[in-house]
Amino acid sequence: MEVVIAPRDELARLAADAVERLLVARPDAVLGLATGSSPLAVYDELARRHAQEGLSFARARAFLLDEYVGLAADHPQRYRTVIDTELVSRVDLAPDAVHAPDGLAADLPAACAAYEEAIRAAGGVDLQLLGIGTDGHVAFNEPGSSLASRTRIKTLTRQTRQDNARFFDGDVDAVPTHCLTQGLATIMAARHLVLIATGRGKAQAVHQLVEGPVSALWPATVLQLHPHVTVLVDDAAAGRLQLAGHYRETYAGKPAWQHL
Ligand code: GLP
Repeated sequence: MEVVIAPRDELARLAADAVERLLVARPDAVLGLATGSSPLAVYDELARRHAQEGLSFARARAFLLDEYVGLAADHPQRYRTVIDTELVSRVDLAPDAVHAPDGLAADLPAACAAYEEAIRAAGGVDLQLLGIGTDGHVAFNEPGSSLASRTRIKTLTRQTRQDNARFFDGDVDAVPTHCLTQGLATIMAARHLVLIATGRGKAQAVHQLVEGPVSALWPATVLQLHPHVTVLVDDAAAGRLQLAGHYRETYAGKPAWQHL
């Protein structure tokens, strides 16, 4: 696990660099896209590179991490809509190459199984962008999630619904109670995981993710078992890292050819 502590704009550039390097090497790469506020600066930077530097997503494919259950197709907070707004509509990614779990399916377990199969048929995810919840969830794998889980329906915790109420005019009751989410094992199958966390509110979750014991209580800790994880954090989110000094020193001395 590589931990990079840097200012927010630098974090977005580093994540965008990783995406760009992948797309240049493999134009038909499979991207794993995250919602929430953490990756927004990355999408801004990717959109800028597309407009100004010709970075192309024309042959890329993408899978979202998760989706709310029951939000109408035209709801602005439906994750598929959010990704269309924040990234797809701003680059040349083909809308039909972007997939999300179907939170409106009549048969939700079947939709989850179909999603797993679609990821598998695409050859798996090459680079997965991730955020982290204040309670240590990744995607919507809330505390208590099986570390071996696959895409399935989950109940959101009150904490997550409160955290996400800001996207629903502050109304926690408007936040759906259920979601479909890639499981922890699904996420762990991606070849490179790039997690971004900023702000003091994430400090405890980041400490657990990087330095805590692997436990379903802090689902993100399963990432410690992945061979290629990049954790991008600002000073505030790094505030509780015990070995922060070591991570800074390691990154400062890293040869440029090594990349993330
Ligand atoms: C949501 C999403 C996660 C995201 C997390 C943190 O619940 N399902 O994918 O990582 O919240 O969100 P934010 O980046 O807005 O803090």
